[in-house]
Amino acid sequence: MHATEKPLHLETQLIHAASAPEQPSGATTTPVVQSTAFTYGSAEEIEAVFAGREAGYVYSRIANPTVAALEARLTALEGGLGALAVSSGMAAISSLVLALAGSGDEIVAGSSLFGGTYALFRHTLSRFGIRVRFVDPTQPDAFRDAIGDATRLVFVETIGNPKLDVPDIAAISAITRELGVPLAVDSTVTTPLLIQPKRLGADLIVHSTSKFINGHGNAIGGVIVDAGSFDWASPRFPHLAPYLAKVGRFALLAALRGRLYRDLGGCLAPFNAFLLSMGLESLGVRMERHCANAARVAAFLAAHPEEGTVVYPGLESHPDHALAQRQFGGRYGALVTFTRGTKERCFSFINRLKLAKNSANLGDTRTLVLHPASTIYRDLDREERWTMGVTDDLIRLAIGIENADDILGDVEQALGS
Ligand SMILES: Cc1ncc(COP(=O)(O)O)c(C=O)c1O
Repeated sequence: MHATEKPLHLETQLIHAASAPEQPSGATTTPVVQSTAFTYGSAEEIEAVFAGREAGYVYSRIANPTVAALEARLTALEGGLGALAVSSGMAAISSLVLALAGSGDEIVAGSSLFGGTYALFRHTLSRFGIRVRFVDPTQPDAFRDAIGDATRLVFVETIGNPKLDVPDIAAISAITRELGVPLAVDSTVTTPLLIQPKRLGADLIVHSTSKFINGHGNAIGGVIVDAGSFDWASPRFPHLAPYLAKVGRFALLAALRGRLYRDLGGCLAPFNAFLLSMGLESLGVRMERHCANAARVAAFLAAHPEEGTVVYPGLESHPDHALAQRQFGGRYGALVTFTRGTKERCFSFINRLKLAKNSANLGDTRTLVLHPASTIYRDLDREERWTMGVTDDLIRLAIGIENADDILGDVEQALGS
């Protein structure tokens, strides 16, 4: 960009930033390189690629041009150093944790988390000797108290799913920077459109790209972006030393690709990378509509005399509303929750909906509804569910991009139950 040129708006960057280099065919969209492996003219050439002396693709479990194009776009959108796209949001989170922590190490995590992340942190990681300390993500000082010598990562969601509480990322980052621990932020429900966590001090950003980035409910994927702000020479990460010696500040990305991605095999399929790249291009208009529709549904439910507590960070009644307004630029995402008193009343509401689909997903074009306690969170005990805001009478709506009047009409007719 020339000094006189204005920076492009994010909606434009979604379409043009790091878009695929000109293709020999002239294709305007990212071509799908649906190839397992790549061939070289001589044994010397492929040896040079394996040795890292020459850039090149070898095998799609390690790198693939269509996946690399998506990684370049997400790196640009988050203003990062580099990215690794993986097979799912859970693959992103588990790979990141395993790249930084090993047996005897600890992680500090905000306690309101997507159920899969909570289960990984609470149950699976303990089998590998990694302990997770959970703290209230809305209390920055709780992170200070929980961080110790064994801490290798601090992890929060930008808006806890489904509690919909909002951590103060800048305040938490001030603490993690002071104590020399990397801060990872799961920005799945906010996307780069609502927040660029790097600007608030996050060192690592993860997304389940299966949600809003894909946008159409047709491809699972995930990504880890290294913001480039954490010095991996930290004594907390001696295992990264060989990578630091070779690639400097790209050490974590190199360890992720060279070890975790290669060894665990959680690679992203090229066709999914293509669908995710296509999804990114329309994220701007979709996210605007998701947020505007959700704000209307939340206001409608909040004004309804017979419904229980409505939670949406855009409502002035939300305890973190002012922070959310500042942090997300006046847009508050697509998730709205409300209580109905009993599980039976939740089920009857869900069963009466005609337009909204009953589904354990979010970030689709369609409005989706779920009873979290009997689905994603059913394996947790009651106390764990309470901590995460999942009461038996809670309904989660993941508002889609249909016409808002039609969504409201559907919700209204289903409430009369
Ligand atoms: C906030 C958040 N993070 C991570 C995930 C996991 O993503 P995936 O389903 O792509 O593994 C989800 C899934 O719902 C999520 O909502």
